[in-house]
Amino acid sequence: MSKSSDSQLMEKIVGLCKRRGFIFQSSEIYGGLNGLWDYGPLGVELKRNLKNYWWHVTVHERDDVVGMDGSILTHPAVLKASGHVEGFSDPMIDCRTCKAHLRADQLVEKKGIKQCPNCGGKDLTAPRQFNLMFETHVGAAADESSIAYLRPETAQSIFVQFKNILEVSRKKLPFGIAQVGKAFRNEINPRNFTFRSREFEQMELEYFCRPEQGMELLEYWKEERLRFYENIGIPRGKLHVLTVPDGERAFYSKGTYDIEYDFPFGRQELEGVAYRTDYDLSQHQKASGKSLEYFDEEPKQRFIPHVVEPSAGVDRTVLALICEAYSEDQAPDEKGKMETRVVLRFHPRIAPVKCGVFPLLKNNSQLVAKAKEIVSLLRPHMTVFYDESGAIGRRYRRQDEIGTPFGVTVDFETLGEKDPALRDTVTLRDRDSMKQERVAIHNLPSILIARIQ
Ligand code: GAP
Repeated sequence: MSKSSDSQLMEKIVGLCKRRGFIFQSSEIYGGLNGLWDYGPLGVELKRNLKNYWWHVTVHERDDVVGMDGSILTHPAVLKASGHVEGFSDPMIDCRTCKAHLRADQLVEKKGIKQCPNCGGKDLTAPRQFNLMFETHVGAAADESSIAYLRPETAQSIFVQFKNILEVSRKKLPFGIAQVGKAFRNEINPRNFTFRSREFEQMELEYFCRPEQGMELLEYWKEERLRFYENIGIPRGKLHVLTVPDGERAFYSKGTYDIEYDFPFGRQELEGVAYRTDYDLSQHQKASGKSLEYFDEEPKQRFIPHVVEPSAGVDRTVLALICEAYSEDQAPDEKGKMETRVVLRFHPRIAPVKCGVFPLLKNNSQLVAKAKEIVSLLRPHMTVFYDESGAIGRRYRRQDEIGTPFGVTVDFETLGEKDPALRDTVTLRDRDSMKQERVAIHNLPSILIARIQ
């Protein structure tokens, strides 16, 4: 696809997200706050389905992983020990001509001279370090002693609680601690819709192991994570594994993979899978003076465990899911004339609404009553949307546009008016093929549950 059609595609996706209630700009009525986003009624369902599925496969389906939920406000000592207070910064440069604030790596170089990418200006300030953490104060005094930070990653609270969780869970190595939650970074240039935001969510697993298991587990988790993306509808062909080269990895990491996705705005990171050695626990042990060692009963040895960390972004994955799902095809309108249909081809597992339920006519009380009965039958098992307004074709289109995989229509055959054998059957429409099948109402829950799992 060409650059301009890619940006047109992004415009369509951003427009659809707002129009249908997936994602809005934060504080929009006051002009918006850059790099911050609010999820609407459909966006929040999509996001929850993603997080729940991650939690299900990472924690509930495994014996060797437990969860936690740490506080967002973080003691400065934690982030000093982790290196964030000193080192979590981007070099920043200002263009004196157009006043743009830029990350140093955003400058363009022409004939060996660095220029502003916006205006081509060459009058640039010297780089200065800009810490990406948001600082705040806890309690009434707003001085040095009360500083706390909004966490820049969820990982640190896992390291800091390692000993407590080891004791209460009585797990043996290798085992993991998982967390899903908010992280905050004062990004210099938030961009590409939600891709680089200032407030976002992470799904992180810290998988602790013996030193000799680290490299093997790095490969294992890379493969597990690729499988995860395929299971939520992102095909392997659109995912790429970048082996982060020696010079670009964090100094303590013995191996890091970036899992990237082909977004319309280019190939970009979805997740990092890193072998962080024993760096984090060692740092916290040193700084706190508390032992974070593990006692191995077999050789009766104490040591600091190593860790492999798959760290995924919730918001980036939601964006990848929407980009991957977006498609346009041709479908007949009410009169049989072909028209463009916008459809989000979400995997049923993560689709915000699983099934639309439609009485053929809204002014027929029997059709309406039957449709409402079906809503009550399905609602304990899945998200359902009842819609009685407008022509049936229009109602299908509205659900296609938000990615609802199935549609159930109650018609006169359901009432047994044409053929008594068809009483209490409905049409079940598939979003992607648009094919319809006739099924008995009492079979609907089991048919749909099997298709959305
Ligand atoms: N604990 C390791 C860690 O935080 P990271 O590569 O900085 O590593 C992990 O972040 C993931 O968090 C990224 O792969 C991305 O999906 C997400 N992420 C990081 N910064 C983000 C931002 N500004 N906006 C949205 N997502 C972000």
